[in-house]
Amino acid sequence: MMPTLPKGVAGVIGWPVSHSLSPALHNYWLREHGLAGNYVALPVEPSRLQEILPGLPLLGFRGVNLTLPHKQDVLPMLAGIDDVARAIGAANTLIFTREGAAYGMNTDAYGFIENIRPHLPERRGKAVMLGAGGAARAVAYALIQEGFSEILVINRTSDKAQSLASDFPGLTAAPWEQRHAILASASLLVNTTSLGMSGQPPLELNLSALPQHALVTDIVYSPLMTPLLMAAQSRGNPVVDGLGMLLHQAVPAFEAWFGIRPRVTRKLREHVLKAKAA
Ligand code: ATR
Repeated sequence: MMPTLPKGVAGVIGWPVSHSLSPALHNYWLREHGLAGNYVALPVEPSRLQEILPGLPLLGFRGVNLTLPHKQDVLPMLAGIDDVARAIGAANTLIFTREGAAYGMNTDAYGFIENIRPHLPERRGKAVMLGAGGAARAVAYALIQEGFSEILVINRTSDKAQSLASDFPGLTAAPWEQRHAILASASLLVNTTSLGMSGQPPLELNLSALPQHALVTDIVYSPLMTPLLMAAQSRGNPVVDGLGMLLHQAVPAFEAWFGIRPRVTRKLREHVLKAKAA
């Protein structure tokens, strides 16, 4: 049996990873709960992941988060994965056993839905999601779990929307050109594309058909208020920015590693925003 170090260590593996806000987030919770552990950013090239992973439990790591580009590639390297990671086809959280085996979970869908839960429409009617990349898979999974009666996916490259819809029964692909008109009678609009992110062009979307009560959310959090969210807010729609998805996806991971379920609070959000600005 492997010795476990008294201090819990966890981290995030990415390439690049220096921009990650996860260390600020997890270290805040470690201090808040008086735990002596540490959460570190680990830059790992894709070609080195397989070699590096088995060393982490030896160093005392309880687990790690994975970010781009490792979330999909890691799956064959794991001893097991949960049903959510299997359905989404990606793991964002690993837990190491005392024996050094790595198990994968996906908490992105949980993070997405918990972020918008207080604002979710009571009647889970029609949801429209834009984008069909990696992030869209977690959003699709969450919307299906949440019981939306109709979930439409629209993507610039229509083959990818079709392929997402065939992986997730319950989703229907619609043509990119219809993205404006299709908003009629929607109760939720989600942007999962990278459009609107700092350095990217804005998402060009005419919101005039969207009911005013529809919730609009973006998984992008840099900037916090994307042009889409600003346009939605100015016409009176409720909006939720993407930072809360990052905060909430971290909750089950922290609990799995350190045995305490942490809370997402306004103070935590302010702390992470300060780290983002630094
Ligand atoms: P992620 O893992 O963050 O979802 P991704 O897998 O690269 O990233 O997906 C990016 C998404 O943004 C895709 O849906 C992509 O559309 P395509 O499949 O057509 O590439 C979308 N996207 C990126 N740039 C875009 C643009 N200029 N116009 C429309 N959609 C765009």
